[in-house]
Amino acid sequence: MIKLGVNIDHIATLRQARREGVPSVVEAALVCEKAGADGITVHLREDRRHIQDYDVYSLREILKTKLNLEMAATEEVLGVALDVKPDSVCIVPEKREELTTEGGLDVKNNKENLSSIISKLKKAGIMVSIFIDADLEQVSACSEVGADAIELHTGKYSLLFKESDSSSKEWKGELKRIAEASKEALKRKLILNAGHGLDYENVGQICKIHGMNEFNIGFSIISKAIFDGLQKAVFDMRNLIEQNSNL
Ligand code: PXP
Repeated sequence: MIKLGVNIDHIATLRQARREGVPSVVEAALVCEKAGADGITVHLREDRRHIQDYDVYSLREILKTKLNLEMAATEEVLGVALDVKPDSVCIVPEKREELTTEGGLDVKNNKENLSSIISKLKKAGIMVSIFIDADLEQVSACSEVGADAIELHTGKYSLLFKESDSSSKEWKGELKRIAEASKEALKRKLILNAGHGLDYENVGQICKIHGMNEFNIGFSIISKAIFDGLQKAVFDMRNLIEQNSNL
């Protein structure tokens, strides 16, 4: 069965809005594990906009499943990764001004830097994946730089899926590109993962692609969690106020 890594960056986004410790990233991770997540994914961004260094260290200690750390190919965050030793690292491109990871990494034109970073991570016993667009040349570059796995960027497919109507089925073209890149990855003995923008409507098609090992999904799960929990949260507060009010 395809594994599910839950990305909990947005729990930290909410916590950082107040910086008062809640909602707890560790508690969220434990709930995800209890619900059947096969692993927890966090992105330690250069600007530390959501996940903080201490989150990564705490998760390393308490997780019973796997910790997957998303990171840019920089010396600073590499230092954290080598110290924390997550089960796996996914190297991603990072731009300060972006709202989320917009595209895949250009492995083809960064082979030297990536080979060096990957060999340090692998020496520390960390499995290395690279986040790329569904492009055959990028897949082969990943195998040349020594990656164990690739994560195919499904963001474009997800957006096209959302925009599609009966006259436009552009997402099918992107799905085909993802399937072709997947085939190439398997041919090159790379572990095949996918993620970004996957949700309750669009994940089914990606599940059908042969050889998928794991999906990393965050935003749609955290968004659904709000509405699955909002009614109870209001109800509980309403009751508490009622019980403590002077009638
Ligand atoms: N995989 C990678 C490499 C990512 O950068 C992200 C976003 O942080 C995800 C998966 C999860 O994407 P989403 O939050 O849209 O599910």
